[in-house]
Amino acid sequence: MKIISVVGARPNFMKIAPFINAIKEVNNNGNKIEHLLVHTGQHYDDRMSKAFFESLGIPEADINLGIGSGTHSEQVGNTMIAFEKVLLEEKPDWVVVVGDVNATLSCSVAAKKLHIKVCHIEAGLRSGDEKMPEEINRLVTDRLSDLLLTPDVLSNENLKKEGVPEEKIKFVGNIMIDTLEANKEKALKVEINSIIQNNLLDDQLRAKSYELKANSYAVMTMHRPSNVDEKEILTPLFRFLSDEVTSDMPLIWPIHPRTQKMLKTFGLWEEALANDNMILLHPIGYHDMLRLNMDAKIMLTDSGGLQEECCVLGTPCLTLRWNTERPVTLREHGGASVLVGNNVERIREEYNTTLKLERKPQRPKLWDGETAKRCVNAIIEFK
Ligand code: UD1
Repeated sequence: MKIISVVGARPNFMKIAPFINAIKEVNNNGNKIEHLLVHTGQHYDDRMSKAFFESLGIPEADINLGIGSGTHSEQVGNTMIAFEKVLLEEKPDWVVVVGDVNATLSCSVAAKKLHIKVCHIEAGLRSGDEKMPEEINRLVTDRLSDLLLTPDVLSNENLKKEGVPEEKIKFVGNIMIDTLEANKEKALKVEINSIIQNNLLDDQLRAKSYELKANSYAVMTMHRPSNVDEKEILTPLFRFLSDEVTSDMPLIWPIHPRTQKMLKTFGLWEEALANDNMILLHPIGYHDMLRLNMDAKIMLTDSGGLQEECCVLGTPCLTLRWNTERPVTLREHGGASVLVGNNVERIREEYNTTLKLERKPQRPKLWDGETAKRCVNAIIEFK
């Protein structure tokens, strides 16, 4: 059997690493799966891509499509054109896509048009918000996939409601948690202060040394277009962080390239650099982020993956979104997150409540570190 699996952007890398290891394992036990890894090249900075391949032990991609940045249609169109050539040349039995980025959509469409079977890892997540590019990617990918591997039971229900035949759906658990389990010992060895020293933005003018202790700092990530692309939204969010959060405690903020660009565009960048308690970092590696998360007093994020990691680590989390495709991570389901959107009054209220919360780890069903094996077995057993 020949499988091509696809990655494109940062959140894909931690999902594909355990999948590739699980293929190696079944091959060691007598199976003969030929596997090729394709990187579409959507994320191309070393810190957004190469660093994750190295630290998670992902073999270099067999093929890199070099797509880079662009509008959604440019990214999707260019990926389809390039990936179709790969498929015609390599003739795989399966294309495996993960998550919800543009690569996930483009490669599943290209494969289906050539009658190649598609397996989607992390199927069935729904935010119900079609203004999110990721939601369009999820809907199309799941509609086309032959095998839909779901991370939680709520996702199974979503797919059934949409009329997906039950035999196509398999509940396997959350593959991100395989990576978390495999890497938490290594992450624990990383020193928080060295994360800061090694990743401070070059143009930051301070030469201060930080001595942060557990439970004494906040961590922040934000990259969604709905939070960062408009001045009227980003400015009050930034004011809250700069005027309020950083008066309470240091705020460690690894900045996504999109967000850095928008802070500069809206004239907020210099103020961010000048604030000693706003610790601006380059995008950081997997172990560094896991380490910061383990001891953070509070997480503020619009990332779906961090919401899941906060759930398992128990880090009290404010999710800077109005909806989530991962309700299992919310406090009403036993998780650590609460949805706060991007309205500052709501954020402030929940921030004050959240600061009083204790760390409360929670493990949804099958978030057990063994998901990748179930994924590979589901493909082998597919009829
Ligand atoms: C993408 C995914 C999103 C995921 C996020 C994580 C889609 C639709 N979105 O969003 O689901 O949560 O990645 O990071 O696929 N850029 C760089 N260097 C890079 C990559 C991007 O400078 O290595 C710049 C691009 O030029 C662009 C901006 O960052 O201006 C955004 O990149 P893009 O690939 O469009 O999407 P993300 O916002 O990263």
